[in-house]
Amino acid sequence: MSKRKDSVLVEQISVGQYRNFCYLVGDEPSKEAAIIDPAWDIPKIIRHVNVKSLKLKYVINTHSHMDHIQGNLSIQQLTNARIVMSCNASVQKDMGVQDGDDLKLGSGVRLHFILTPGHSRDSMCVLVNDIALMTGDTLFIGDCGRVDLPGGDASELFDSFKKIRDLDPMLIVYPGHNYGARPCTTLKEQLEQNYTLAKRSKEEFICFMKEP
Ligand SMILES: [Fe+2]
Repeated sequence: MSKRKDSVLVEQISVGQYRNFCYLVGDEPSKEAAIIDPAWDIPKIIRHVNVKSLKLKYVINTHSHMDHIQGNLSIQQLTNARIVMSCNASVQKDMGVQDGDDLKLGSGVRLHFILTPGHSRDSMCVLVNDIALMTGDTLFIGDCGRVDLPGGDASELFDSFKKIRDLDPMLIVYPGHNYGARPCTTLKEQLEQNYTLAKRSKEEFICFMKEP
């Protein structure tokens, strides 16, 4: 599925056996684009890029788990795109972004990075203009990412959720996996319906995340 607003292109591409979502974000007039979390089916992703004649400028990863980065190098070899990750990522990258950094695609698209550790140390969300929020494995539709893998931390996820709560509720949340009833919803709907975002103290949230 794809969504356009003004000159912004957002395309959600379903890939792989773990129901991953990869995203193509572009500026229509200039055709400059970024791919978020390329993995599993690189020919399919490249087809999406070519159909729209996009020029891939960046490969962006919401975090460094293998199911989100395994296509980075193949895409880079094909397009010369620069690999962008959180400054906390220790895997191969060309640019490490800090919380609040921006990148532009053409003159119409602003990619704004919000570091959201918790699922992993190097997790981040990508805000596309005031339209879309790519949440990776930080937030799913109706759920959130696990915190029991190396680098996971429930206390950090609690703080990251605070940042997400402060964003425009009309943003469309685009998760890193298709684990929900629908592939995307508004942040407002998640704040109202996602049980992991229910009001809790930090201590309550840490206990909640330990529940089986
Ligand atoms: Fe992950």
